[in-house]
Amino acid sequence: MSVEKEEGISKSSFDTAVQKSNALEADLNINPHKHRVLTGDRPTGNLHIGHYFGSLQNRVRLQNLGVETYIVIADYQVLTDRDVFKDISKYVYELTLDYLACGLDPEKFKTHIFPHSHIPELNQLLVPFLSLVSNAELSKNPTIKEEISASGQNVINAGMYTYPVHQAADILFCKSDVIPVGKDQLPHIELTSKIAKRFNKKFKARVFREPVGLLSETPMILGLDGGQKMSKSRNNTIMIKATEDETSKLIKKAKTDSERVITYDPENRPEVANLLMLTSLCSGDSPAKIAEEIGEQGAGKLKQMTAEALNSQFSEIRKRRVELEKNEDYVRSILKDGIANAREVAISTLEEVRQAMNMNI
Ligand code: TRP
Repeated sequence: MSVEKEEGISKSSFDTAVQKSNALEADLNINPHKHRVLTGDRPTGNLHIGHYFGSLQNRVRLQNLGVETYIVIADYQVLTDRDVFKDISKYVYELTLDYLACGLDPEKFKTHIFPHSHIPELNQLLVPFLSLVSNAELSKNPTIKEEISASGQNVINAGMYTYPVHQAADILFCKSDVIPVGKDQLPHIELTSKIAKRFNKKFKARVFREPVGLLSETPMILGLDGGQKMSKSRNNTIMIKATEDETSKLIKKAKTDSERVITYDPENRPEVANLLMLTSLCSGDSPAKIAEEIGEQGAGKLKQMTAEALNSQFSEIRKRRVELEKNEDYVRSILKDGIANAREVAISTLEEVRQAMNMNI
C-alpha cells in the first residue's frame, strides 16, 4: 500500500511542492508583476486568528508586494458537504468584512474579492475540465477522503468528488500561478496543474499556465482545547472580530497542563507551546524567549501575556471592522467591483478555451 493512502500526499510529492514553493517565493520578491495570486475560503463562518496567522497576513503581504490578488469566496463549495445553506449570503458578506479589516484593499491595490457563484463563465470551465480527469483520480484524492469521513454524511454527492475540478476553474479562469494554501490543499493544486497541462496538450494551445502552491511558513495554530487544529467546527477558536473581553475570557479558559514552570516544548506540552507561539507571532520574540521570561510565573502569567499580545495585534483590525460594519454600501460595492472584474477576465478566458476546442461559431 502506498503512503498516499494513509496520510495525504506522498513525501516525495510534498518535497517537490516545497521546492517549487520556495523558488516561487524568491521570484515574487523580484518580479511581483509577473505573477497573479488566487486563493479563497468557503463562506461557512467568520474567520478566526488561525486563518489570520496562517493565511490572511500572507495574502496582505503579497498584495502589498504588488502582486495582483484574486480572492474567491467559494460559495458553491458549501453545498458539497452540508445540507444547510441559509447563511451563505450572510457569510459572503462577513468574510468580506474580515478581509477588508485585515488589510486586503481593492481600492488601493489590484485586489479582487468575489463569490464564484456570480461568475458564470468561470463555472462553465468546469464542463471541459471534467473531461480531462478520470473518476479514479477524483476518488483517490486524500483531502476529499478526509472530508468525506469528517462530513458524517451517508450519501456523498458528486459535487464532493468534483469540487477539486471546480477549484481548478477558480484558479485557471484568471490564469493565476500563485496559490497560497495550506498542505491539505496540495492535492487540489496538483490536480489543477494536471488539468492545465492536459488542456494545453490535448487542444494544442497555450491557454493556461501551471499554478504552484505557495506554502505558508506559519506553524499550524492549535485550538484552545489543545491538541487539534483551530477550527470553527471544533468550537476552539478566537474570531478576528472578537472583542478584547471575549478574547481574554477565551484565553483564560484555554487548556494548559499542570507543570508550573513554563517551557517551550511543542512535542510534550502542545497546549502551552501553542499559547507561546501565538504570543510570539504577535510580538516577534521567539517562543523560547517568552517562555524563559515567564518561567515560574506559570500558566496564569502566560495567559495574561497571550491575551494582551492578541488584543494589541488585533486592535487596529477590530477598530477598522467596526467602522466598516457601519458602511454596508461600501462593503457591497467591493463585491460588485470584484465580480465585474472577475467576469471580464472569465469571459476572455472562456473565449480562448472555446477557440482552442473548436467551438467558436
Ligand atoms: N477549498 C478551499 C478551502 O476549503 C477554498 C477554495 C476554493 C480555494 N477555491 C479555491 C483555495 C482556489 C485556493 C484556490 O479552504
